Amino acid sequence: MAQYAIPEASSTFSKQKPSEGAYARRCVDRFIRQFSARLGPTARAASRRINLLGYEKAATMALIDWDRARYSVQVKQFDDEHQELVHLINDLHAAMKSGKSRDLLGHTLNKLVEYTKTHFSNEEAALARIGYPELAPHRKEHGEFVKHVAEFQRAFAAGETTVTVDVMEFLRSWLVDHILKSDRGYGPLFAAKNIH
Ligand SMILES: [Fe+2]
Ligand SMILES: [Fe+2]
Repeated sequence: MAQYAIPEASSTFSKQKPSEGAYARRCVDRFIRQFSARLGPTARAASRRINLLGYEKAATMALIDWDRARYSVQVKQFDDEHQELVHLINDLHAAMKSGKSRDLLGHTLNKLVEYTKTHFSNEEAALARIGYPELAPHRKEHGEFVKHVAEFQRAFAAGETTVTVDVMEFLRSWLVDHILKSDRGYGPLFAAKNIH
């Protein structure tokens, strides 16, 4: 399993980097200012409407779409918990994109971190009960992720960083990779013990 580091967790760059949504809005606003003088009123209104539709679409798109065929580990409890994790990551992504306050971002981040810990501990306890031989490396992957996220949480709380597109991409790719490459590996042993 590859090692990950949350990008720019403590750099000043993150502090200055605008959220993707805010940055995109500024670019579009600049474009409209530069070119609207050359358009007639109808074209100007149409241009604004098209941009608004683009914002709305981008703001409502989920970062991760749950795909049972692809992500199922064949154990209902953990499929449910993974779906909840996807839901919480999508919530954080939506909060970032719509430029929500730091308080709300922090609250959403804390919910995600707490639920992640709960899920890891449920999973590890079940893997121990069935005698899963890969439990030790699996636990290590969980532990490394928690360590990185805890450092990000600390930096966020200290005002040293914020939730960026890169942070969201780290969370998305870690969860998807972990489900596909590690969690799905325990499915057959649960099935052999008739646990679904
Ligand atoms: Fe896991
Ligand atoms: Fe998991």
